[in-house]
Parts: sequence; structure tokens; C-alpha cells
Amino acid sequence: MDTRPTAPVPPPGCPAHESGGRVPLHGPGFAADPQAYYAYLRHYGPTAPVELAPGVEATLVTDYSAALHLLQDSGTFRKDARRWRDLNEGRISPDNPVVPVLAYRPNCMFSDGAEHLRLRQAVTDSMARVDQRRLTRITGRASEYLISQFGPRGSADLLGDYAKQLPLFVFNELFGCPADIGDRVLFGISGMFDGINAERAVEVLFGAVGELVALKRARPGDDVASWLMQHQAALNDEEMVHQLALLLVAGNEPLRNLIGNTLHRLLTHDAYAHKGGLIDEALDDTLWENPPMQNLAPHYPAADTEFGGQVLRAGELVLVSFAAANTGPDLTAAREAGSSRAHLAWSAGPHACPSKEPARQISLTAIESLFNRLPDVELAVPEDSLIWRPGPFNRGLATLPARFTPLRKGLHPAPQGNPGSPAAGGPADPAGKRERVGRWSQFLNWLTG
Ligand code: HEM
Repeated sequence: MDTRPTAPVPPPGCPAHESGGRVPLHGPGFAADPQAYYAYLRHYGPTAPVELAPGVEATLVTDYSAALHLLQDSGTFRKDARRWRDLNEGRISPDNPVVPVLAYRPNCMFSDGAEHLRLRQAVTDSMARVDQRRLTRITGRASEYLISQFGPRGSADLLGDYAKQLPLFVFNELFGCPADIGDRVLFGISGMFDGINAERAVEVLFGAVGELVALKRARPGDDVASWLMQHQAALNDEEMVHQLALLLVAGNEPLRNLIGNTLHRLLTHDAYAHKGGLIDEALDDTLWENPPMQNLAPHYPAADTEFGGQVLRAGELVLVSFAAANTGPDLTAAREAGSSRAHLAWSAGPHACPSKEPARQISLTAIESLFNRLPDVELAVPEDSLIWRPGPFNRGLATLPARFTPLRKGLHPAPQGNPGSPAAGGPADPAGKRERVGRWSQFLNWLTG
């Protein structure tokens, strides 16, 4: 048997291979086949030199053990992005497209030590108060509403019409958003992620969340926003706005992609054969092999340090590739042999996702509702024509066109006996003074019949 190591195969069209420079994690080549890039990056060793956007350099950890080591060593590797040397020294422009994801904000994701503990405890304790049955009910209602909108057509984009919308609706309800604030939250988050007028979208989102904080100070409800406010961490208004915005942003995009990537898997892998019992398995396989957040966990060494065979300078940007770590040859072999080692789709260590249980539950309920309502749903286009969105951080489809037997109109009445969503603070506009045109307003109208 030939045991010579095989030469690393560069991903098709990878410009770094020709130039000997950093491997770009942006552009259509990476979006089309990230695993080819990860296979190539592994030849550098546990860490590799990458570029996140033109001119934005980073070190990417691709090896599972090295990734775990970094995520658990919060003395050496810090989260506070005010340490980011390239931004501080002007080598990256503040309007670079990756800056909104990576730049410092006063929330738990970008804090270390005691401050992190305080903010994170407030977040986890408040999310832990969400009752599982209520979450299933809220998700079920949002699913029912969205399916009622496209079901009679017999075709839909399961991304744009469903996976993308559903988390927004669930969050509005969990946070107790009244109609007008909820509409602006939906507008802000969608604009931010779609990059359409993103600056304005961020402004609208923070404005709406600020109003929500003021509203809940005056009239607390039975919702996450009010519980966060009542927490013993005693968050001030600015801290409230930033933790709520983090929950909305950190929750929506990966949740949309967890639903979308799992639906994609169910519709393209015969092994699951659309059987209800296998949705759980498809979701876990997605977390292993096609995780919604493929590269993130930005960290900055507190001092110059040796790591994974190379020297990292203080304040240099280091990211973890959850997708590469999960699919490395050693881990794949261990997984096939029945090892209990966990995947890194939720990250690990002190900054691991604090909401994996609700995120799993929302995703499973959304997917089950869809297959229950549309049992013969199938992909409407060839699999290889599907387009994945570009970008180094998230992994998600641009669209997921599907077809199914059309639902008959009129068979899906709005739920009765619930005049105004209690979480939304009852009828939000009893005098009808404001125009109810946004999607959240329409949902609330549908709910109340
Ligand atoms: C209910 C929905 C979700 C909420 C509210 C949520 C919230 C959060 C928050 C607040 C953090 C920061 C924690 C900290 O720094 O201490 C976080 C981190 C993280 N979440 Fe989630 N999340 C949700 C869904 C998801 C999903 C679906 C995924 C993908 C499988 C995911 C993957 C991650 C990862 C990888 C991190 C670490 C990111 C980093 O260190 O840069 N989350 N999440």
C-alpha cells in the first residue's frame, strides 16, 4: 500500500494557492464548497492564515483539540474586541463589511471575566424562564401562520417564506413586542442580515429595542425582556438594549440557518425519507456536518503567545472554524467508532451558546409542523442549482424552492379565544390610530381573527 502523504489539493479557483497568500473565506468559491477549503487549510497544521474580507486578516483554528484548548483558555485568549490590533491601528476601515459582526459592543459576547459572568448570568437566567410548552405553542402558531400564507400556492421558498421569518416571529413574541415595535424589529434584523441599507437597519433595530426597554420599565410583562430587566444583575438601560439586541441578532441568523440547513438535508438525503422520526437525527447531522455558524468565536491573545505551532501576537484576530473542527479526519473516525465527543456547532467553554435547548426546540417544532402540514413537500429545483450565501461566518442557503400539494384555502382559521397576544401586551393599537401594515401587525391581526 502506498503510504506517502498526498499533496494538499487547493480548492478550485482558490487565489491564495497561486499567490502563496492568505486563503480567502469570502466570495462564491468558498460559499459553493467550504469543505474543500477546510481540507486544504488543514495542511497548514492546527491553524491557518485566512482572509475574512479583502484586507481583513485572521488566523483560523481548524483542528478540534486546538479549538477546544483555545475556547477553554480564557486567560490567554480574550473576547474583548477593543484589543483588535488591526482595527486599532487603522489597517481595517470601520466600514468594512465584517466590522459590524466583530467590533466591540457592551454585551456578554465581547466581555471577559467578572463582567462576562454578570451579563451572561442575566441572559441565561432569563432565557431559562421560558416555559418549554409555551415555546412549542408560540413556534407552532408562527409556523401555522406562515404556512397558511404560502400553503394554498403549492410552492414556496422555504428559506424566505419560512425559515427566515419564523425565528423573528418567535422572538417578537418571547420578548413581548407590541405591534409597532415588533414591525421595526423585523425590519431592522432583516435589513441587517440582507445587507440592504444595513446602517439604517441597525439604527431602526436599536431604536425599536430602546423603545421596548422603556415600555417594559413602565409596564413589565411575562416575557424575556421584562425578566432580564428584573434580574439581580440590575442592568441599566444601555446594558438592556445591548443584551436584547445580542439575543435577537445571535438568535435569528443561526436559527434561520439551522432550520434551513436541516430542511435542505431532509429534502436531499434519501436516507431520511421525510419520516417524522428522523428529523432529530437530521438536525444533529446538520450540526456536525453543516453547522449554521461555521467560523466565529473571535478571540485576541492577551500577550504574544505560541499556539498550534506558530506565534500569535497580542491583539491578533483568531477565529475558530466549528465546521472544520467537526469534520476533521480524526474526529470523523472517532464519531464513526461511536465516540461521545461532542461537536462544536454551539462552540464550547465560557462563551458557548447559552440557548441551545430553546434553539433546538424551535427548529424541531418548525420542521415537524412543516412536514405535518405538507407531507409531500419536495425540492422544486435540482440540488446542484441551490446557492449558498457568501460570507465567512454563517452557512446558509439563499433560497430553498419547494413544491407540495396546495392546501385548500379556508381550512386554516386563526386560533380562537386569545384576544391579543398576552406576550405582546394585549391589543397594541386599540384606537386604531397607527396604521397596521407590518408583518408582525399582520400576524397579530391573524391571531386575533
Ligand atoms: C434561541 C436562539 C439563540 C439564542 C438566543 C442565542 C444566543 C447566543 C448568545 C447570547 C451567545 C453569546 C454567549 C456568550 O458570549 O457568552 C451565543 C453564542 C453562540 N451561539 Fe447562539 N443563540 C441561539 C441560537 C444558536 C444557534 C441555532 C446556533 C448554531 C447552531 C448558535 C451557535 C452559537 C455559537 C457557535 C456561539 C459562540 C459564538 C462566539 O463565541 O463567537 N446559537 N448565542
